[in-house]
Amino acid sequence: EQHNALVFFLNGRKIVEPYPDARVNLLHYLRQKLHQTGTKEGCGQGACGACTVMLSRWDQTSSTVRHVSANACLVPLCSLYGVAVTTVEGVGSVQNGLHPIQKSLVDSGGMQCGFCTPGMVMSMYALLRNKAQPTPADIQQAIGGNLCRCTGYRPILDAFNSVVSGCPLGENCCQNQGGQEALEKQTEADGKSEKEVCQAQDPIFPPELQLS
Ligand code: FES
Ligand code: FES
Repeated sequence: EQHNALVFFLNGRKIVEPYPDARVNLLHYLRQKLHQTGTKEGCGQGACGACTVMLSRWDQTSSTVRHVSANACLVPLCSLYGVAVTTVEGVGSVQNGLHPIQKSLVDSGGMQCGFCTPGMVMSMYALLRNKAQPTPADIQQAIGGNLCRCTGYRPILDAFNSVVSGCPLGENCCQNQGGQEALEKQTEADGKSEKEVCQAQDPIFPPELQLS
C-alpha cells in the first residue's frame, strides 16, 4: 500500500486505489472501474436518487458506526477514505437471496421498469439500519429524494411499510433466536436456505475502519 493510496470498503471487500483521481465521483468509479452496475445513473447531478448508496463511518466520539444514504454521483471518490460503502449488490440479489426490502417490492408491485429500484432499496436500507421501526412518515421522508416515473409511489410505500411490520418468520426471526447460529440450525431443519428467509442481521462493520 502506498502512503497516498485511497482505502475504503465496498460491500465488505477492501478496495485500495493507489492513484485516486480527484475528479472522479463514486458513481463513476463503481460503474466504470469496479463494474458494479447495480447503482444506476439517472441525472448525474443529485436530483433523482437512482445512484443512492449507503456510507458508513466510524464515529470516534460515540464509538458507533454512523450510516447515511448518499447520492453516489455527488460523492467525490477521494472523500471515501475509511468509509464502508454498501451498494445494492451488498444488500441482496437473486443469486444470493433477496433482502426483505427487495422482496417486498416484488410482492407489492413496487417495481415496473426497475430503474429507480436500487436507489429506493438503498434509501430504505439506510433508514432501517438507523431505525429498526421507522414510521410511515420516516419512510416517506427517506425516499423523498428518489424519483420514480412508473409506479406513482404508492406500491413502493406499501411495500416498505410491510417490511417494517416484521419479519415473516415472526417469533422465529433470527433477531429473536440468539443470532446467526440459531438461524442456521433452524433453517437446516426447514430445508430452506438461510438467505431466503432472513437477512435481519446487520453486516459487520470492517474492524479495520474502527479507529479509536
Ligand atoms: Fe441522479 Fe445521482 S444520478 S441523483
Ligand atoms: Fe420505473 Fe420506478 S419503476 S422509475
